[in-house]
Amino acid sequence: MPELLAYQLLFVTGKGGVGKTTVAAAIALLASEQGRRTLVCEAEPKGDLARAYECGPTPFSGRRISDDLVAMSMDTEASLREYLRVVAKVPKMGHIGPVARAFDFVATAAPGIREILTVGKLCFEIRAGRYDLVVVDASSTGNVVGQLAAPSGINELIRVGVVRSQTDWILEILGDPARTGAVLVTTPEEMPVTEAVDLAARLAAETPVHLACVVANRVLPELFGRSEELVFNELTRAATLDFVARNLQTSRELVEDVLAAARLAVTVRRDGVAHLERLRAGIASDVPLLYLPYLFARAHGLRAIRQVAHALSEELVT
Ligand SMILES: Nc1ncnc2c1ncn2[C@@H]1O[C@H](COP(=O)(O)OP(=O)(O)O)[C@@H](O)[C@H]1O
Ligand SMILES: [Mg+2]
Repeated sequence: MPELLAYQLLFVTGKGGVGKTTVAAAIALLASEQGRRTLVCEAEPKGDLARAYECGPTPFSGRRISDDLVAMSMDTEASLREYLRVVAKVPKMGHIGPVARAFDFVATAAPGIREILTVGKLCFEIRAGRYDLVVVDASSTGNVVGQLAAPSGINELIRVGVVRSQTDWILEILGDPARTGAVLVTTPEEMPVTEAVDLAARLAAETPVHLACVVANRVLPELFGRSEELVFNELTRAATLDFVARNLQTSRELVEDVLAAARLAVTVRRDGVAHLERLRAGIASDVPLLYLPYLFARAHGLRAIRQVAHALSEELVT
């Protein structure tokens, strides 16, 4: 199993809101800083990558973020146009209108066409050798399996001809564990962990893509060691509460509220630890589990991406 940044194609997936875009943007940033020519692509063009890098729009044709980093958003229609022009060598068309309509018709009739135009474009970039690494901010749990399973589905559907010759090399890239991997992002909570364990099983059963690693994002640090615990217990004694309230000229209830918040943070972390244990037990033992800390600073955009990239680089060293 290669080291994370040595892959050629990484699909970052997981339940909505767990940090897929953040992790994909951070992996791409880290790889590019190590001199790997990196393309990062959002599979669902919502502008989330542009927000993460605090840059302008990231079109299908790509936006250069730095010397070794380009960001793009998927557009299946543009992908079809590129496919017709570059691979099928169909001469440039003046109007895409009729093709787009025909495409919509075909894509609706044959499930998997849209997906293969997404995955195919990315595999094409690998094959063309323009990039050392392509990172995909992939669809969330529900859709990613269909996306990654599409080429084999089509391959089984059409066993001969031009489509077969196209899907064969795509499958070869997707199914090569030395080149392609899935990065499954989750958080130390009930539902995200349950979904991550399910998704790991579905990826293995239904797609050719192997699991490169699982990322546990927003992990709370150990807040209370033994000495903090002693101080905390001391603070919660009635006499201490009264003393603090009197000195601050505030109510005892307010002081108790502050302590309750601290207690909540500790409880959340302890629950998180239990979920992380469930996660570790639910995925194959040879799949690395990486931890990324909860960022408390109200960082977003590029600053948050840099912080996550830094934390990730430390995980990759150990
Ligand atoms: N380690 C972290 N600590 C704190 N906030 C985080 C962390 N990772 C992501 N976030 C925040 O969580 C939210 C969801 O992250 P995002 O990457 O957009 O998730 P997804 O792409 O899976 O929907 C964002 O507001 C992001 O800034
Ligand atoms: Mg996202």
